[in-house]
Amino acid sequence: MKLWAIADLHIGHARNRMLLESLGSYPDDWLIVAGDASDTPAQLHAALTALTARFARVVWVPGNHELWTPRQLPEDQRGQAHYDRLVALCRRLGVLTPEDPFPVWPGDGPPRLVVPMFLLYDYSFGPPGLDATSAVAWAEAAGLRSADEDLLSPVPFASRSAWCHHRIASTRARLETLPSTHRLILVNHFPLRQDLAVLPRIPRFRIWCGTRLTDEWHRRFPVETVVYGHLHLRQSRVIDGVGFEEVSLGYPHQWADGRTLDSYLRRIL
Ligand SMILES: [Fe+2]
Ligand SMILES: [Fe+2]
Repeated sequence: MKLWAIADLHIGHARNRMLLESLGSYPDDWLIVAGDASDTPAQLHAALTALTARFARVVWVPGNHELWTPRQLPEDQRGQAHYDRLVALCRRLGVLTPEDPFPVWPGDGPPRLVVPMFLLYDYSFGPPGLDATSAVAWAEAAGLRSADEDLLSPVPFASRSAWCHHRIASTRARLETLPSTHRLILVNHFPLRQDLAVLPRIPRFRIWCGTRLTDEWHRRFPVETVVYGHLHLRQSRVIDGVGFEEVSLGYPHQWADGRTLDSYLRRIL
């Protein structure tokens, strides 16, 4: 059995949806879906229904797109409540989320845990010393503004940074209690290190890409591989002996016509 990963399926785009429908079947294997499968709960349901029919086990983490909600939606249905709704949707489909016990990888090799995480970002990938408001102004000065600013509500947290810091604290506490006998496959939509959030065409967009608080997690915990997406810049890197795999598909113009989705699955184990 194998462990595969993909991110940023963005099936709101018809071509991406068609590509997903043509995906082959992997009845013995597991699949990591590292966020941005969809823009709406209905799309997420469609994506995960297609994937659970093809894999023995699917593990999902939210991307910023999945966390978007219409501005006219009541505040008590946005932010955390919306995330909780997505987790419930996953549970109905048998898909594992960051809210479930971390599964032990049942395949060959040393003991490993697959660790889905939801950490968000706190604008600290900008120049040192800028608060969130100043960081957004700094990006806007270069003509950049993430749709998250309007669509990703942090309710009941005061800000996306506060939600991020809450997620960091609770996730770090869970990681600290894990048995040292198991190597970790960390999964997060956003890159864990600023040196991975390099966007040559839109460099200031990096403020919406992660937090410096996870810079050292790959050394602090027994990590074998970190799986992420969000950047829409596929790459494989090794830092301090740890593999960092950006596994995004991306928007229709970011993948090659004539290639299958199967060919974009990244083998992790
Ligand atoms: Fe994306
Ligand atoms: Fe994203």
